[in-house]
Amino acid sequence: MSQVVTETMVRVEDVHKSYGTRAAAVHALRGVSFEVPRGELVALEGRSGSGKTTLLNIVGGLDTPDRGRVVLDGRDLAELDENGLLALRRDHVGFVFQSFGLIPILTAAENVGVPLRLRRADPREREERVELLLSLVGLADHAAQRPGELSGGQQQRVAIARALANSPSLLIADEPTGQLDAETGHAVMELLRAVVRSEGVTALVATHDATLLDLADRVLELSDGVIVER
Ligand SMILES: Nc1ncnc2c1ncn2[C@@H]1O[C@H](COP(=O)(O)OP(=O)(O)OP(=O)(O)O)[C@@H](O)[C@H]1O
Ligand SMILES: [Mg+2]
Repeated sequence: MSQVVTETMVRVEDVHKSYGTRAAAVHALRGVSFEVPRGELVALEGRSGSGKTTLLNIVGGLDTPDRGRVVLDGRDLAELDENGLLALRRDHVGFVFQSFGLIPILTAAENVGVPLRLRRADPREREERVELLLSLVGLADHAAQRPGELSGGQQQRVAIARALANSPSLLIADEPTGQLDAETGHAVMELLRAVVRSEGVTALVATHDATLLDLADRVLELSDGVIVER
């Protein structure tokens, strides 16, 4: 990404997104604008269907807006071709999903190492980074276990470690505690809050979890495809 250090990590300007054809079109986003300053943790709240996933996918370069623009760390996503977007997602954005998205046949350590393999990192460097990340999320003693041998909260911590593997500038999480009980969810949210501080990463997290809403630097509320005042 750009070498110039920008104060604004994410800038979203008047983003619109519709699905389907004219008569049956669903207007998922209807003119969304906001900024996320570098190093902040911003929570994105809103009812089911309000457009949270659509917005996160567009900010992370997984989908493109119909109108408006997204600038990540000074880089306008509209200027990137497919390969450019792929490299951006691989090297600068870490994703955490509600369903964890771990590879079942790989151990916790191997799952965390996947992004580093994709980047063809030196094996020695990779192992050191994986060890550090597993310690960071409190799973140093569980490195050899496969996802099916871990609790839901532990699996999500592995997913967070994996998302941080390539030292992304932006961490995007879509309801990361949606499949966890309240207590485990709180622990995962507190972990997210802690890694945003310790890793100096910026995070945009869709959630209904009151813990994170309290821990967030800022809360944005989406309602029917627009940001509303809370
Ligand atoms: N691929 C798609 N095709 C058609 N409509 C879609 C598609 N993806 C999302 N939508 C519609 O866009 C709107 C916003 O969906 P989105 O998934 O962004 O909501 P959300 O806030 O993430 O909801 P939830 O809290 O249930 O995850 C919804 O009305 C949804 O039906
Ligand atoms: Mg969603």
